Amino acid sequence: MEIDRRAFFASLGSAAVVHALPNDEERAEALEHYMTDLLDQQTSANELATIRRGAGDLFGAPGPSGSATPRPLRQLERMPERPTLVDFFKYRFAPATHVLQSATDAMRKGEKEETILACLMHDVVLNLIKVDHGWWGAQMIEPYVSEKVSWAIRHHQALRFYPDSSVGYEYPELYNRIFGKDYVPEQYIKKTYDYARNHKWYMEARMITVHDLYAFQPDMKVSLDPFIDIIGRHFKQPKEGLGFDGSPTAHMWRSMIFPDHPL
Ligand SMILES: [Fe+2]
Ligand SMILES: [Fe+2]
Repeated sequence: MEIDRRAFFASLGSAAVVHALPNDEERAEALEHYMTDLLDQQTSANELATIRRGAGDLFGAPGPSGSATPRPLRQLERMPERPTLVDFFKYRFAPATHVLQSATDAMRKGEKEETILACLMHDVVLNLIKVDHGWWGAQMIEPYVSEKVSWAIRHHQALRFYPDSSVGYEYPELYNRIFGKDYVPEQYIKKTYDYARNHKWYMEARMITVHDLYAFQPDMKVSLDPFIDIIGRHFKQPKEGLGFDGSPTAHMWRSMIFPDHPL
């Protein structure tokens, strides 16, 4: 489950309240309460919801604490004629805290540049669509990155449900309490995990999940600046601009440029 940190902090009063909590256990406790409330409210609000939960953030999202009333959409500026990836971060993905935290953690821990890029891009497609975001996210960037980077992003979604103690990734205890100990992911997720587990690039995807966990850190300051050069070296920016280069996924980028077009 993706956490909306702003809604989480709002539910507590302010971020300062979280800092004031004396230890990690209490912080985890606060987060757990928030997530449990969210699940309860989403379940009970199911029949009233006006936006399906799989819709991307640019197209609406559940309101604070998952209420049936959608969160008000934010004003979007018109994008430049030939938008770059950096423009998308600025005009459409901002504040992008989760992916920036993930990439920052990967960089601090000395990961290679392609892994840092994969962490930076691993969830940006949530602006377009949420359901099966690993697959959508990989496809969207496939024409512009190495096969390894898109492979990693495609498979991180399934790997999150399966521990790997060799890199210190455990199935989060929090998930047991929230989803129940008997929670079983869909069959296609399990199949994807089995396939990825035996693939030569397994670790490429696994490391996204390792840095994904560390990403929920309320005190980490983030910015896109440290990643501009990595984007320059590993993301093939089309000269016509993302959305206008005739690539097989240009329409996905255009949908985020023009989310209000009725057709
Ligand atoms: Fe993800
Ligand atoms: Fe993530």
